[in-house]
Amino acid sequence: MTLYQLGNGKTFYSLTFGCQMNEHDSEVLAGMLNQMGFEKAESENEADLLLINTCAVREKAEQKVLGKIGELKKLKEKNPDMVIAVGGCMVQQEHVANKIHRDFKHVDILFGTNNINRFPSLLEDVITKGKRIKEITQDDSTVFEELPHNRENSIKAWVVISYGCDNYCKYCIVPYVRGQQRSRKIEHIKKEVVQLSKKGYREITLLGQNVNSYGKDLGNENGFEQLLEELEDINGIERIRFMTSHPRDFTEELIYKIRDSEKVCEHIHLPVQAGSNRVLKMMGRGYTRERYLYLVDKIREELPNASITTDLIVGFPGETDEEFQETIDLVKKAQFDSAFTFVYSKRSGTPAAEMEEQVPEKIKKQRIQELIDLQKSISANINQKLEGTVQTVLVEDVSKNDANILTGRTRTDKLVHFPGNKSLVGEFVDVKINHAHSWTIYGELTNF
Ligand code: SAH
Ligand code: SF4
Ligand code: F3S
Repeated sequence: MTLYQLGNGKTFYSLTFGCQMNEHDSEVLAGMLNQMGFEKAESENEADLLLINTCAVREKAEQKVLGKIGELKKLKEKNPDMVIAVGGCMVQQEHVANKIHRDFKHVDILFGTNNINRFPSLLEDVITKGKRIKEITQDDSTVFEELPHNRENSIKAWVVISYGCDNYCKYCIVPYVRGQQRSRKIEHIKKEVVQLSKKGYREITLLGQNVNSYGKDLGNENGFEQLLEELEDINGIERIRFMTSHPRDFTEELIYKIRDSEKVCEHIHLPVQAGSNRVLKMMGRGYTRERYLYLVDKIREELPNASITTDLIVGFPGETDEEFQETIDLVKKAQFDSAFTFVYSKRSGTPAAEMEEQVPEKIKKQRIQELIDLQKSISANINQKLEGTVQTVLVEDVSKNDANILTGRTRTDKLVHFPGNKSLVGEFVDVKINHAHSWTIYGELTNF
């Protein structure tokens, strides 16, 4: 029996935790499973193979995964032939992989982020030899190419431009579980995007933990700007997005590039994390609040319609009330369209976990609430300015709750809901905005 027949007549179901990088990896795993003959199951209860792709970025994310794995014991008892595979960032940590291996005997396969390409062979060993497998590799030098994808969406696609991260922000586990930064070659990325355009994709999002340092590991200092230039002329692709940007490496030249490009969208996700210079320094972020606010001003000057979004952490070890108020002040000044707000979470193995003066939970909770309330009112204010305007929207999908409602995004990445026929999915349409709240925007078609 060859590897590629193993899944014939069988189904799989996958559960993905974490960020876009993990969603992308789950699409790759699904692509490999399809090649082996597996089809997607309707639900986890019916699947022959259950795949869990995990995230380690905060303790809560890990607890959620462990809770889920625990629950699966019953499912496996009912269906002993089911194969359960757990991979991703959490498992890449050897001590966590060992713990899962020891405590959850119903898990058949454990694999990390560095050996995702090995998944089909691991699965083959489990199915044909009936053994349990744990394979984690610390070798983080591989730049994956030519892996199959089974993409969830047929209009927009994630395209990885670099794997890993070299920044080692003091609170962050990502460099330890994703390895060193490895940029893909421009020609490989271009080839993938051309293939996507031929399949009818209209939008791509370039993914990397720090897209602004793309290419530096290949000796190319302006790699990201060059890459954008190379992708601009690919017919069929109308929108190019990218994330995540790092304020330390984000340049004025990039702002001009976005300004002068037809396709690169005016949305910049620029995580600031904190508003106090002392905290930024302790975090090892490599910029000051002044530099950050300068970049925001510059973006507003050159790209007046751009949306800017961010990530914020409250309660980094040693953060005082006054320093937290500097974050509040920065948020008021920067006027973000939206922000992901996080309570600092201790990640073992990172330098911040060893820092004294961990901030008590109660204070972290108060701080995050103040921040969420503030951001919510800023987002509502900004979005309300769209009421009465007409926006060009790329229709992405039919709403999950109502088949007569379509969802799509503006170039600035605002999600808009409006009544319409599903034949419009994949088209650009003009939508008049009627109601705009902090998170949701409603409108109606104007050109139909
Ligand atoms: N490479 C991206 C994304 C990293 S993870 C970046 O640099 O922005 C996404 C976000 O999770 C980070 O921006 C940060 O705000 C948050 N985060 C990372 N580690 C964290 C921790 N230990 N506790 C709380 N939030 C954390
Ligand atoms: Fe983590 Fe910093 Fe790398 Fe982002 S840039 S993944 S926050 S270490
Ligand atoms: Fe992403 Fe979580 Fe890993 S945020 S890179 S899935 S630790």
